[in-house]
Amino acid sequence: MGSLTVRNLPESVKKRLRLRAAASGRSMEEEVRLLLAEGAADAPAKAARMPEPAGRPEAAQTAPAARRVLLVIAGGIAAYKSLDLIRRLRERGIAVRVVMTRAAQEFVTPMSVGAIAGEKPFIELFDQHSEFDVGHIRLARDNDLIVVAPATADIMARMANGHADDLATAVLLATNQRVLLAPAMNPAMWANKATQRNLKILRADGVLTAGPNAGEMAESGEAGLGRMAEPLEIVAAIEKHFDAGAETQNKPLAGKHVLITAGPTHEPIDPVRYIANRSSGKQGYAIARAAADLGASVTLISGPVTLPDPPGVKTVRVESARDMLKATEQALPADAAIFAAAVADWRTADAGEQKLKKDGSGPPQLALVENPDILATVSKLKSKRPTLVVGFAAETEKVIEHAKAKLKRKGCDWIVANDVSAEGGAMGGDDNAVHIISAAGVESWPSQSKDGVARQLVARIATELDGASK
Ligand code: C5P
Repeated sequence: MGSLTVRNLPESVKKRLRLRAAASGRSMEEEVRLLLAEGAADAPAKAARMPEPAGRPEAAQTAPAARRVLLVIAGGIAAYKSLDLIRRLRERGIAVRVVMTRAAQEFVTPMSVGAIAGEKPFIELFDQHSEFDVGHIRLARDNDLIVVAPATADIMARMANGHADDLATAVLLATNQRVLLAPAMNPAMWANKATQRNLKILRADGVLTAGPNAGEMAESGEAGLGRMAEPLEIVAAIEKHFDAGAETQNKPLAGKHVLITAGPTHEPIDPVRYIANRSSGKQGYAIARAAADLGASVTLISGPVTLPDPPGVKTVRVESARDMLKATEQALPADAAIFAAAVADWRTADAGEQKLKKDGSGPPQLALVENPDILATVSKLKSKRPTLVVGFAAETEKVIEHAKAKLKRKGCDWIVANDVSAEGGAMGGDDNAVHIISAAGVESWPSQSKDGVARQLVARIATELDGASK
């Protein structure tokens, strides 16, 4: 395998390999490795059938390492430590591919880097061989993380300004992966306003950093902040990043915005009196917590309740139905919207500015007008309609029949129906027995805590959104 290069293969095979690589998102080299691993006898037959979509699981079977790091070595004295970094990463089963800047070669040789990495480093942007075999775009993307160590003041400046005039910066500009910098420079260069300005820009762009540390510099008599973090510290930062990534895989709503309304609304009659529905807000708040636990960014639009703001949730407090509609519209777009609020159906046509007085002429005649229906309004939006709109139906009789009618009338995707009759006990209580009504039919869940309903509902929503995005 050591003597095989893609360049030496027949043109027809290279063409099919290129198509196969384009279809799978892997490099041509990796496609060759994959085919060889599948069996030398079988390889020609497979090549003849190219291109065929090759799935990632196949790659995982043959890939020796679960994680791939692209290490960019820039030109600083700390580059010698990068050799140890490569070794430490490989010890942990992390595959390392290296790009060196031209200046880096003044400090360590491509030969020593290649010997430790197990593969020649990439150096030139316009190198026919590497462009053909891998290409700088694939180099930029075919990894799980790019680490720049040492990250000199110069490469940081070029990154902050989007330069792409050598292979290292072209790769850094073209990548869609996270970048971790291990800055290393003289303390005066680190403290310089220009470097700090660039660092701020890079951090705002999502670039991660490890170090620098304080200590002695290579130059005699120089000390301060600017020493590159030790290889094991950089490894720890890399592993932390990978662990965080693994954690978000358990958060199926990561990157999704979920909007929830909860609680009652208060519709003023005068400054001291109001019309309201009975609602504790417990179910809606539990849904907000459950959605945040699964990684969603959550906006909770809450009517007046006595519950505290759930942690990690953007809570917007409102009073009336009209305020709730306004806040809801402002919170869009959302991937899913769950309308658990008990919105008052009517408000007074004309709320008095002064307290109504008992003046002996009998009770006041309250003229009522209809409130906007928030659920129906959002369900019927032409643009900005959330992918999934879920309404609640609190019924005291014929729960499923009424809920089915509501699903149609409101135009939402699901109705979560519950029995709020005195016997049902859902109103203000901690438990709830619900039925999920959708176009697919009716599903009845056993009575459980409101937290349990919330978790089960949010897990269903995550599955639905996942299906919708495929
Ligand atoms: O029509 P009804 O009030 O029974 O419908 C209940 C569902 O509609 C709940 O999801 C509730 O949050 C929502 N709704 C609304 N705006 C209204 C009335 C109800 O969003 N004005």
